[in-house]
Amino acid sequence: MERLICIGIGYIFGLFQTGYIYGKLHHVDIRKMGSGNAGSTNALRTLGIKAGAVTFFGDCFKCIFAVLIARLIFGNTKGDILPLLSMYAGLGAVLGHNFPFYMKFKGGKGIAAMAGLLAATTNIWICLIALAVFVTIVAATKYVSVGSIAVVIIFFAGVVIRGQIGDYGMEGAPLYEMYVVAGFLALMAIWKHRANIGRLLNGTENKISFGKKK
Ligand code: G3P
Repeated sequence: MERLICIGIGYIFGLFQTGYIYGKLHHVDIRKMGSGNAGSTNALRTLGIKAGAVTFFGDCFKCIFAVLIARLIFGNTKGDILPLLSMYAGLGAVLGHNFPFYMKFKGGKGIAAMAGLLAATTNIWICLIALAVFVTIVAATKYVSVGSIAVVIIFFAGVVIRGQIGDYGMEGAPLYEMYVVAGFLALMAIWKHRANIGRLLNGTENKISFGKKK
């Protein structure tokens, strides 16, 4: 039951679509511009650096807030599986971001929200590695989507590494359940990038740009 509550809390936070709201405040629908994605890369691409930064941090922190609320609610009673419940809150936030009911389930790809979950469930070293890999890949290829896919793989690997060295204080079924949820999140992020992967394969993927184009 507590798992469902955490997913529900996360989903509600995930519904806060920073890029879509930012666009609406500027009288545009970000989903009808650029790549059509309601995320920070498309906000950057179509509305500029400020829009991209606001969207990234808004989407990132909504996931962190969802995890913090779950920890506040269950910290005293379910402390033994708190890392798992945090992961479920993150799952809810990514689902809310990717599939917001009030936008006909057409949201973003969940990378900024997963960056928040990375920060909330791994550690500073894994976050720094993810950041360094992302910046290096994007600087070298100009493809944000490739950097995003690398980050979600690092997220899954980071969760498994921390679990295996005992950082979460969990073992057995709850630990493996946490791996399954993290793996599901990583696979969902890659699936959400299927159009990007198709464009990468035929050489038509958008390169990063900082303009304001429609
Ligand atoms: O985080 C999303 C990014 O990886 C790709 O965004 O707009 O180029 O599909 P976009």
